[in-house]
Amino acid sequence: AVSQEFTANLPKAELHLHIEGTLEPELKLKLAQRNHIDIGQDTIEEVQKTYDYDDLASFLSVYYPAMEVLQTEEDFYDLGMAYLKRAAANHVRHVEIFFDPQAHTSRGVAFETVINGLHRAVVDGRALNVDAALIMCFLRDFSKESARQTLAEALPYKDKFIGIGLDSDEHNNPPLKFARQYEDAAAAGLHLTAHCDIDQKDSIEHIRQALEIMGVERLDHGTNIVEDPDLVQFAAKNNIGMTSCPLSNGYVSPEMKGEEVLELLKQGVKVSIHSDDPAYFGGYIGDNYYAIADRYDLTKDQVVQLAKNSFETSWISDEKKAIYL
Ligand code: ADE
Ligand code: ZN
Repeated sequence: AVSQEFTANLPKAELHLHIEGTLEPELKLKLAQRNHIDIGQDTIEEVQKTYDYDDLASFLSVYYPAMEVLQTEEDFYDLGMAYLKRAAANHVRHVEIFFDPQAHTSRGVAFETVINGLHRAVVDGRALNVDAALIMCFLRDFSKESARQTLAEALPYKDKFIGIGLDSDEHNNPPLKFARQYEDAAAAGLHLTAHCDIDQKDSIEHIRQALEIMGVERLDHGTNIVEDPDLVQFAAKNNIGMTSCPLSNGYVSPEMKGEEVLELLKQGVKVSIHSDDPAYFGGYIGDNYYAIADRYDLTKDQVVQLAKNSFETSWISDEKKAIYL
């Protein structure tokens, strides 16, 4: 068996982390006060009680309204720095941070406010020995036109983020809806990833679109791929990363999906372990490693392989990768 200390101290790359999902009750209260916003709760315990959900839709209906406390560049900076301190404590050496600009621009916060605040945190994170970068996600339940506008707004800042992703409610929102934005982003030299959530109705078709048509380099969640041996082979052959989030899985489905992770390891797919929305799902990356290791009795070698996979499928330079592999 593997100890909590072992999973905590292992050097890791965090590749599936929504910065908005790191909004802890304490910071939420502080920002509400600073911005004179009445969120309806006055204590950490009261905020914690609102973090109540049992599937993706009920989670998202708590998650988006919570963001109203994020208003200024300073707020986004503080959110970023609070996370990077946690990352450093979790021995995260490299992190690729998702952010959802449309969740903010749709309520009147400027794109530049979001990206400038987060980027400043990324730069200051280096002093904490955490190498960080940003990935811009489209909200897939927003229109194609909104995604087009968001990419147009983002491209002038393309030195401040390294790739694009796709998140939010997947139901009836297949990857191909955003084929044009993925093409344009790739042409601009950006990396590509997309959420293909577990237990989605059209999961396999969505995975197929993302891998075979849109050329994504990673799938976020995506472990349902085990249902389709041809796609598993494609993923193994093409070094596709698969970012599984055990504690998040445990919230939105009856289990953490450890069997799928083990099967993918066995088939040589570069699956790795991450935290998704740690303030909402009960733990940062070290806790996620420990949860899956403990529940499925992983060996040390398997845990080390998962961490190696995280660096291998990250978007850092080959020189930096070599340090960890
Ligand atoms: N946004 C934040 N967390 C998410 C998740 N687990 N799935 C889809 N969209 C998300
Ligand atoms: Zn996610």
